[in-house]
Amino acid sequence: MSKPRSKVFFVLEDLEVEVPHGTKLSEVVEASGADITFGCKSGTCGTCRVRVVDGNRNLSAPTPEERDFLSSLGAADDERLGCQFCVLGDVSIDYIGS
Ligand code: FES
Repeated sequence: MSKPRSKVFFVLEDLEVEVPHGTKLSEVVEASGADITFGCKSGTCGTCRVRVVDGNRNLSAPTPEERDFLSSLGAADDERLGCQFCVLGDVSIDYIGS
């Protein structure tokens, strides 16, 4: 049986891509060419900061480290680090950056 698929919509580019459930956002970006820049890919630089416009519940949960770092940036509740989550359902993403 094939894996369920999720739709990722990138607001900035008006681009929608379909990916297997559980794909890392960084892999979706790489494959689709969406305009999100990654620096450290380890949750410590903030370059990949995004706003989850829709579907926040469809992402893997933030680790305490991601939560702490976002809070140190003064990030809103709908913001995440793009290098730190997997897509578990349909979601819309807007790029903020650092
Ligand atoms: S790439 Fe550095 S925090 Fe995501």
